[in-house]
Amino acid sequence: MIKSRATITGIAAELPDYILNNDELSKMVDTSDEWIMTRIGIKERRILKEKGAGPSDLGARAVKKLLEKTETDASEIDLLICATVTPDHPFPATANIISHKAGIKNAFSFDLNAGCSGFLYALATAQQFVETGMAKKVIITGAEKMSSIVDYQDRATCPIFGDAAGAALIEPTSEDTGIIDSKLQSDGIGFSHLHQKAGGSVRPASYQSIDNREHYIYQEGQNVFKWAVSKMADVAVEIMERNSLANEDIAWLVPHQANMRIIEAVARRMCLDRNKVMINIQKYGNTTAATLPLCLWEWEERLKKGDNIILATFGAGFTWGAMYLKWGYDGSK
Ligand code: UT7
Repeated sequence: MIKSRATITGIAAELPDYILNNDELSKMVDTSDEWIMTRIGIKERRILKEKGAGPSDLGARAVKKLLEKTETDASEIDLLICATVTPDHPFPATANIISHKAGIKNAFSFDLNAGCSGFLYALATAQQFVETGMAKKVIITGAEKMSSIVDYQDRATCPIFGDAAGAALIEPTSEDTGIIDSKLQSDGIGFSHLHQKAGGSVRPASYQSIDNREHYIYQEGQNVFKWAVSKMADVAVEIMERNSLANEDIAWLVPHQANMRIIEAVARRMCLDRNKVMINIQKYGNTTAATLPLCLWEWEERLKKGDNIILATFGAGFTWGAMYLKWGYDGSK
């Protein structure tokens, strides 16, 4: 008898219409399509241009699509978690705003900030509520307007990020599917390598912070790169080993989409063929907490019930982790 597990029962996404491609970026900073494709692997990214719109709009649209496709009434949702590093406002939580916009009235909701690992952390958190019976239907979303904190004068960071939202419904199952194992980690040593200098309570906005361009992503790319490759690969391999998974047992790797070279290095360490790795970085860039659901959403039709899937992430904090789950339904249905 399998103990009740938490499983993903639906996935949806929302992408802004505006496409910022490498040619347009090359007119904004001293860069080229060739450099960006070789060093990062991104061709284009989506940008939320709608006036007054934020991650809650992308998130709420993804959540509404999710409710519709899973034939779930908004009143059935017990909990909504929003993973984001670009909340609409410092407070209240963007999750509260998403719930309101999506007509979810019987749920409690909160935000979770774990950088690019946010969706994985949210999934592991949802799992706890579902497995203990405290919640039956949980929605997790990764919703980001990265363009609001990208410095479009900094060629080292502006090609990387894009805006998007993804959402997943998590429910209990007594079948042999769902979340089986995960390992989440963090190390505050990462602060100095990747952060936003101003806009928080330590350094609130001031004329000086604006003049110094401190409200944007600060990243020491090479340092972050090294950490990302080793930590993401280590934790993904550890999850494989402790669940006795050989590379042929794995149907899909769903890696955080930060850099094509990082994704390829992780897949190599896991001895996985590239055709088992979900990669859409070329179309959407790094959408931070939205990369994992965007992959699952794009690959949904190809997923089969019982597929062994490994999710792996690395992000600001530093935070990183990996999860082993068995997919809950045939995606083609
Ligand atoms: O998701 C959160 C976690 N984040 C990540 O995982 C990101 C990890 N880091 C990276 O993906 C890479 O480090 C970057 C994509 C950010 C940078 O790539 P890199 O290969 O590490 O480049 P670099 O920073 O070592 O820069 C190499 C050269 C430098 O020129 P010099 O000093 O050698 O003359 C940069 O100024 O490339 C230059 N450069 C660029 N050239 C053209 C930096 N950005 C650009 C650009 N276009 N956009």
